[in-house]
Parts: sequence; C-alpha cells; structure tokens
Amino acid sequence: MSSSASTIADEVARRRTFAIISHPDAGKSTMTEALALHARVINEAGAIHGKAGRKSTVSDWMEMEKARGISVSSTALQFNYTPSGAAEGDEPAVINLVDTPGHADFSEDTYRVLTAVDAAVMLIDAAKGLEPQTLKLFQVCRHRGIPVITVINKWDRPGRTPLELLDEISERIGLTPTPLFWPVGIAGDFRGLRDVRKDEYVHFTRTAGGAKIAPEEHLSTDDALDREGDVWAEAVEETELMTEMGQGHDQEMFLAGQTSPVIFTSAILNFGVRQLLEALVELAPAPHARAAVDESEREVTDPFSAVVFKVQAGMDAAHRDRLAFMRIVSGEFERGMVVQHAQTGKPFATKYAMTVVGRDRETVETAYPGDVVGLVNANALAPGDTLYDGAKVQFPPIPSFAPEHFAVVRADSAGKYKQFRKGIEQLGTEGVVQLLRNDVRGDASPVMAAVGPMQFEVVVARMKTEFNVAAQVEHLGYSVARRTDAASADELNRQRGVEVFERTDGALLALFSDKWRLQYIEKEHPDLTLEPLVAAA
Ligand code: G4P
Repeated sequence: MSSSASTIADEVARRRTFAIISHPDAGKSTMTEALALHARVINEAGAIHGKAGRKSTVSDWMEMEKARGISVSSTALQFNYTPSGAAEGDEPAVINLVDTPGHADFSEDTYRVLTAVDAAVMLIDAAKGLEPQTLKLFQVCRHRGIPVITVINKWDRPGRTPLELLDEISERIGLTPTPLFWPVGIAGDFRGLRDVRKDEYVHFTRTAGGAKIAPEEHLSTDDALDREGDVWAEAVEETELMTEMGQGHDQEMFLAGQTSPVIFTSAILNFGVRQLLEALVELAPAPHARAAVDESEREVTDPFSAVVFKVQAGMDAAHRDRLAFMRIVSGEFERGMVVQHAQTGKPFATKYAMTVVGRDRETVETAYPGDVVGLVNANALAPGDTLYDGAKVQFPPIPSFAPEHFAVVRADSAGKYKQFRKGIEQLGTEGVVQLLRNDVRGDASPVMAAVGPMQFEVVVARMKTEFNVAAQVEHLGYSVARRTDAASADELNRQRGVEVFERTDGALLALFSDKWRLQYIEKEHPDLTLEPLVAAA
C-alpha cells in the first residue's frame, strides 16, 4: 500500500540531494569520505590517503573510480545524519550525495548528474582558488538555478588569504560569498572556525592521521580572544568587514543563486566537515516540484515520477548489464511497481531496483523524491526519459551541451558492420556521444561529438566489450559547433574549415575548425544562421 501525501511530505522535508563540484585534486574524494565519517557510515577515514589501510563501501566506490581511470560511474551515496541541535525523536536528515565523474576530462555525464541534484557544494583548493573545471561546473549550476555552498578546502596547508579567495569568487563568477564559518589562523595554521552567525569560536583538535572526527571545543568570543589573541581578533575583523559589506547569509538570495554561503575546511583533518553537513541540512533546499514539458508542475506529493539522468553499462565483468539511474521527482517508489515510460508509452517493471555504490548493489524497496535508484537491464531507458505512475507527466529533456571534440568512428573490419551500427546507435541513444551525419561522409563512419574526448574512449571500450567490434577513432580538426538551418547549410559547406551535419535529434550543426574561422564567417556572411549551442535541447 502506498503512503499518504503527508508521509511523502515528511520524507521529502528531511532529504537533501546534492553533488560536489570541483576541479580534480581539490579533495572531493577526501571530503566524501569525511562526510561519510561524520554520518558514521564508516568508522575511520584514511582509505583514500592510505593512512589506515581499511576497506569500506565508500572507498571501494572511489577505488573503482580510480582504477578504471575513465570514470564512467555516477551513482549516489545515501546516508542519514542527525544534526547536533536535533530534538529527541526527530527523524534524521537523509543525505543523497550524487557523484560527479572525477576524471580531469570533462564529459556530458557531469552535466547530466547536475540535473539530478537540488544543491551543489563547490569545493575549492585554498592554494589554487577557482580552477577551470570548477568554473565550468559552476556555470551549469547557474544555468539550472542550483544553489551553491562554497567550501574552501585544504586550509591546513599554506594558501591564499580568505579575502583574496572570496574576492575571486565574486569577481570571476559574480556570486556573492556569504561566510558562515571563517578560519581562525591563516592557511597552513588552521586552528578553528569562527561561527559567524552564533559569534562563537569552534576550536578543533587533530586526530592521528585525520582518521577520526576532530574533537571540537566551543568558546565564547572573550575566551577565544584569551586563547588565540591576534589570530582571533583578525578573524573577527575580517568577518565584520564582510558583514558591513552586506555579505551576511540571506536564505532567499542563496536559493535564488545570487549568494553562496562559505565554509573553510580541511577534509583531511576533518575540520569544518560537521559544519558543512549541518549547513546542508539547514540551508540546502529539500526536493521540490519540477516543471513538465507542458509547463505544469509535478508536486513532490503527486504520484510517482522520476527522471533518468544516467545510463551506465558494463560496470564490471560480473554484471554485463545496463543500469539506468533515476532521480525520483514525486511520490513514493516501491520496488516492483509497474510504471509508465513517457517516451515510449510502454509499461516498465521495476523489479530490479537497486542502489549502487561501487561494486555493491543493494535492493531498494522504497524510495522518495530526491533519492537515486538504479534500474537493472533498463534497455529502453535513455538519459532525460521520464517514468511515472498515475497522471501522465513528461519532463523536459536534459539539455545536450555544446560539443568541443569531434571524431570519426570506424569498425576495423567491414564484416562487423551490422554489430558496429547496432553498437553506435545504442551508444548514441544512451547519450554517450552525440552522433552526426551528412551525405558526403555516408553512414559507414559516423561522426561523434563530445564535450570531452574521454567520451570517445568510452565508445571504443564499450564497442569492444559489449558489441565485440574493434573500432578506431580518428579525431577531426573541428573545435566549435553552431546550430544552423537548411537555408544556411549550402553556403556554410562551401566555406573552408566548415562542415554541416545533422544530429540524431534533427538539429543541423555547423562545425568550424576554430573560433577565428567562425568569427571570420560570421563577419563575412552576417545573414547566415549561427547560434551558440550552450544548452540547446
Ligand atoms: P579529488 O577527489 O578532488 O580529485 O581529490 P582527492 O580527495 O583525491 O584529494 C587530492 C589530494 O589532496 C590527495 O592527496 C588528498 O590527500 C589531498 N587532500 C584532500 N583534502 C585535503 C585537505 O584538506 N588538506 C590537505 N593537506 N590535503 C588534502 P594526494 O597527494 O593525492 O594523496 P596523499 O599523498 O594524501 O595520499
């Protein structure tokens, strides 16, 4: 029997679904582990930095990512967390931490994962400041209206000053940082945090190897001044400066994506990690209604609906299968329920529903909005698809982002043409790459378009393991794509360094060797249709 709307509303209210966006090496894995430690999912941290030599579910997940090199896995880690101020009998918060691919390469997967979250934690290395991948990911959050909490990590190591780092955030990305917890001690001398809102000092004590939760002492301003002297006074002065500049936390501005609460941390020492978890529970939005293609809103308490945001195949040799990950948008999910697939109009049985963390799969019996569930052998499902029960709903497709890498793919042997076609079609449907065609090149060697070149390697690897076809990739010398139309196509095809293609969704794309060529053509032929593709559907 399914739950009442009030049960669903209660479940929704305690959920927080977010992703960590960061440049590689900023400490995402270490922070994930530190969060798991604070939520007591694991007892000891250290698997990542090799200090404790202990195996855990979490580390398996991340080890797998590292071992594979290409991170094709994007799943979610779910845990309960009871904030320190919770009253007796309060239900714990349910945290869904959705993993973004960790590889330096950038792929469409990363974008898609961000369609499944309600908030993001932007993790910045205190010595490096904003890095390219953080910036790109941040742009996606802004585009989707995802509120962002900023975490300045590695404060235990020498780095920049807090004011410099926050200036960079407001100047380069136009987001106003609003500090919640300010560091006491310069980068490299991390003593604790000033809780800006409570005006108290949280002093941390290191544990051996940073393996345990760092003990905290809470001191009043006077005691903090006695203990830390000028170091405390400086933290107070700096935060007051921020407050005077109007940079105090404002929940509405945060939810509107205009401000970002800031916390300074050391993931490796577990300093500031509890503060981050509590800020997530307190400030990040719970799952909310989602707009459908017809612009109606699916409320969280409406009957079940979900969006597929990721399809993953061949996760390991023992399970040669395809998993579709859905983020639940509304209602209660019960394993075994038969739902409708909006794209095909066909029923879909959910007997094999699981959560997937690394190699571990666990059957899911019940799930609520905000949760991520993997469906096994979901061959009909593609990213962006809608599943629902009750009144029909279809959510807008996941935008396909502007590709910057292009390559021809060919089967090594002509004899395998049939499997080759099948494989390419399949991978195109799953959204591993975008597929482009034109009459000149013909069908035997379609052109793949990707946000990151690693997507091509995934195609070659999967063609081999799943379709038994050896394939070759030949990179093409294009780096910019623009959407065009049939009226402009002939003129564009006559230009040097330009080629027009039709994408599987019917869009016409003109590829240019570089942005200079594009600019030249735009200037010479102002009448041609050339639209940027940032988030074209
Ligand atoms: P990623 O997932 O974002 O790529 O980063 P990851 O957690 O793997 O961390 C990258 C490196 O930064 C690791 O060091 C990790 O130990 C270190 N690190 C993460 N957070 C902190 C922090 O708060 N303080 C300090 N000082 N270091 C941090 P490594 O050199 O790759 O490994 P190891 O030598 O530590 O084992």
